Order: sequence, then C-alpha cells, then structure tokens
Amino acid sequence: MTNPLDLTEQTILVTGASSGIGRETARLISQLGGRVVLVARNEERLSDTLRSLEGDGHRVEPFDLSLTDEIPIWLKKVSVSSGPLSGLVHGAGIQRLRPLRVLTSAVLQEVMRTNLDAAVGLTKGFRQKGVCAPSGSVVLVSSVMSLVGQAGVIAYAASKGAINAVTRALAVELAPEHIRVNCVAPGYVQTEMAANLWSSLNQDQCSAIESMHLLGLGKPRDVAHAVAFLLAETARWITGTVLVVDGGYTAR
Ligand SMILES: NC(=O)c1ccc[n+]([C@@H]2O[C@H](COP(=O)([O-])OP(=O)(O)OC[C@H]3O[C@@H](n4cnc5c(N)ncnc54)[C@H](OP(=O)(O)O)[C@@H]3O)[C@@H](O)[C@H]2O)c1
Repeated sequence: MTNPLDLTEQTILVTGASSGIGRETARLISQLGGRVVLVARNEERLSDTLRSLEGDGHRVEPFDLSLTDEIPIWLKKVSVSSGPLSGLVHGAGIQRLRPLRVLTSAVLQEVMRTNLDAAVGLTKGFRQKGVCAPSGSVVLVSSVMSLVGQAGVIAYAASKGAINAVTRALAVELAPEHIRVNCVAPGYVQTEMAANLWSSLNQDQCSAIESMHLLGLGKPRDVAHAVAFLLAETARWITGTVLVVDGGYTAR
C-alpha cells in the first residue's frame, strides 16, 4: 500500500525551521520524502536543522520575515533555485507576554508583523506564477490562544485570531488556483517559545496550564504530524479549516 502522507517529489518551504515546531515539521517532511526549503533568520541554526534531515536536495534560505513587503520578490528568487513549491508552512512566530497595562502599539505591531503580515506576504508570494506547483497547500500555524482567552497575550491572541480568519478568506480566494489554505491551532508545545513563557509563570500557574491539557503537554512532532496531514494527499478535500491540536485543552 502506498503511504497517503507520501511527499516524494514535493518541495515545501518551512518558516521557523531553526527551532521548535518548524524544525520538527521540516524533519518529518524529509522523512516523508519531501525536499525542504528551510527559512528563519539564524543561518547557523538552520544549518543544524539541515544536518538532521533525511534525503537530499534541501536548502537553507535565511530571511527576516518582518520585512513583509520584500517577501514576494524574495520568494520568487527562492523558487528559481529550488524549483516550484508544492507547499508552504508558516511556522515562524513570536510571542510577547504583555498585560494590557504595559502593552504598546509598537509591540502589537511587532507581533502582528511576524505572525500575520508575514503569513499573508508568504501566501501572496507562493501563489505567484512559477513559484507554486500546479496545485499547492499552505499551512499556517495559529494557536489555541485564537480560540480561548488568557491574560497577558493580547497581541499574540489578536495575531492568531486573524490567522484563523485569513485562512478562510485565502482558502476561498485561492481555491480557483488549486491552492488549499489551512491552519493548525496547537495548545502548549514544549519548545523555546513555550519555555520562555513558562519561565515567567509561578508553579501554580504552570500546573494549571498543564492540567488543562487532558493528554499532557504537546511535543513539536504532535503538531508536525497535523501539518504533514494538511500538506499531503490526505487533505486534498480540506481547505479553510482550523485544525486544533491541543491535547484536549479546548475540549471543555
Ligand atoms: N510552543 C507553543 O506552545 C505554541 C503553541 C501554539 C502555537 N505556537 C506557534 O507555533 C509556531 C512555532 O512556535 P515554536 O514554539 O516552535 O517557537 P520557537 O521555538 O520560538 O521558534 C520560532 C521560530 O520563528 C522564527 N522567527 C521568529 N521571528 C522571525 C523572523 N522575523 N523572520 C524569520 N523567522 C523568524 C525563529 O527563527 P530565528 O530566530 O532563527 O529567526 C524560530 O525558528 C509559532 O507561530 C507559534 O506562535 C506555538
């Protein structure tokens, strides 16, 4: 039987590939036979990811995604070297813990830029003629913070709520071009981002968050599996959806 998650002959660009969920997604894609274009700012850490991939034909393309207006032109150049892209995963993201009393519009804009504006810029770049293969799949990384409230994460929640909304709008707009657009909404996943948040909480707060995840805290691979499902033939009839991957966090 053929593997329905097989990604052989597909080239997939993964942002945030220097760490956490993006890095693990890149690894899984390579294990499923795909070629990966690894994107983040830190070239050294991208090279670490590259060394951990299976197969060959992968590339490192360092880029600062906060330069949102430059993304489409940059992506066109990348595709000249990599060949047409079958998939795009926006795993890059930032989180700034700021209660309302200290939240500034500069921080709000900083978070929106990397989490939301870059997602739109990347999708805009991806759908360009010659960049995207005849059919494509875009997977954006949202968060359960788009669905439930938590103190101190206003900017982050705004950016992720917007990701859910643009996922639907982009799915409708790009369906005639045979591009599917979906997002995953993870709960708490053990990565550097989560560790930073964890370090600012006391023991009771950590225990409370942990206990809300009925299946325990997540691992990057749990999210990578969901992303691979949305990239592959398994999701050929799925677009515009928010796939919650949260160990039961939002179940009650
Ligand atoms: N961990 C969780 O609990 C959790 C839960 C829900 C959703 N998420 C979402 O999952 C995604 C990945 O999070 P993570 O936990 O894996 O975080 P992480 O370990 O902190 O990784 C974040 C990645 O984003 C990249 N990045 C940040 N700013 C960038 C920029 N301006 N240009 C290019 N790359 C940039 C970083 O690379 P460089 O520093 O090298 O640029 C890094 O590779 C994010 O969208 C996050 O919001 C995480």
